[in-house]
Amino acid sequence: MVRFGIIGYGYMGHVHQKNLEQTEGAQLTAVCDINPKELEDVPGGVAACTDAGELLARNDVDVVIIAANNNQHKLLVTQAARAGKDIICEKPVAMSVAELDEMICVVKECGVRFTVHQQRRYDKDFRTIKKVYDSQTLGNVYTIQTSLYGFNGYMHDWHVKKSEGGGMLYDWGVHLLDQMLWMVGSRVKSVYACLKNVINEEVDDYFNITLSFENGVMAQLELGTYYLTDHPGWFSRHWFMGGDKGTVYSDGMNPVGKIVTTSSLRTHSPERTAAMNYGPTRSFGPAPEGLLVTSPLPDVDCDHLDYFRNYLKAYQGKEDFIIRIPEVRRVLALMEAVRESAATGKSVEFE
Ligand SMILES: NC(=O)c1ccc[n+]([C@@H]2O[C@H](COP(=O)([O-])OP(=O)(O)OC[C@H]3O[C@@H](n4cnc5c(N)ncnc54)[C@H](O)[C@@H]3O)[C@@H](O)[C@H]2O)c1
Repeated sequence: MVRFGIIGYGYMGHVHQKNLEQTEGAQLTAVCDINPKELEDVPGGVAACTDAGELLARNDVDVVIIAANNNQHKLLVTQAARAGKDIICEKPVAMSVAELDEMICVVKECGVRFTVHQQRRYDKDFRTIKKVYDSQTLGNVYTIQTSLYGFNGYMHDWHVKKSEGGGMLYDWGVHLLDQMLWMVGSRVKSVYACLKNVINEEVDDYFNITLSFENGVMAQLELGTYYLTDHPGWFSRHWFMGGDKGTVYSDGMNPVGKIVTTSSLRTHSPERTAAMNYGPTRSFGPAPEGLLVTSPLPDVDCDHLDYFRNYLKAYQGKEDFIIRIPEVRRVLALMEAVRESAATGKSVEFE
């Protein structure tokens, strides 16, 4: 049994408590939050305290999950490492690459295990698209677009404060970039990005990021929390991926979509024009009858509990931790390039 402690028992701390409860081989022994109100519903048999030092001094905690505000991560990871605890830190692991580098030094010095809760590698929609990408069904993929839109999204508490690590790039950007880098598996040549504060004063609530990969993939990631539309299909997550042999699209976190290929790839069309309701066209007419072949999305079986299943196996040396610190560092570095591009209005060379 691996014994866990949670520091920061707010929204995500409670999610971790529920996840650990459902993970065989894991036991939650202690939680800590500086706000005593958050500790009112701590399950029986689990110790509770308001001081991280007290939790870290306990000898019934093997692994500490840090789920406090982003600006607390460096301090708490350092404290946990010095107390000899293995660490899972929430994303974004740090506010900058420089902060992460300091954390890495301390963790190495103390010889503890360190990984990050970037569990959205187990999102079903993402894994579905990744499965199509890996299968090479679409031939040479040249474009990947992913978006996440919310209706009048509610950014709340410290998430709207710059000094505490608020904003959507830190919040969801880290997941979206991590998914893209992990899937495409190629060096990023350049980044062009825009960050906007649509209605927030201090932090970004919209981003649009274009990544140019060395293998020819152009990836576009767009997120907006304030899409005032009554079209329900716009909310949630969307994917579109195009290759020279087909496309795939999906909507929603429980993905609904299709793979579309062709029974015969035509490089030149014999028809001269098609009359469309927007006027005649030679290049953008409909596909001739019978040429498109549609297939269902592949089945994937995963959920966020897989993150902890992997953690426990890796803890016993049976597999690698799904999230490795050099990958986390790469995402943070990319986020810094995103901010540089957004600030200068110029494309930034990356790797
Ligand atoms: N991986 C995910 O999907 C996901 C989802 C949501 C949030 N998060 C991350 O989880 C972390 C917490 O976010 P949240 O939305 O749960 O915030 P939250 O405000 O609901 O919870 C944070 C808690 O930490 C406590 N806290 C702050 N400093 C502390 C300290 N020094 N010692 C002990 N407790 C402290 C606060 O009192 C608060 O209760 C953030 O890093 C966030 O990015 C991750």
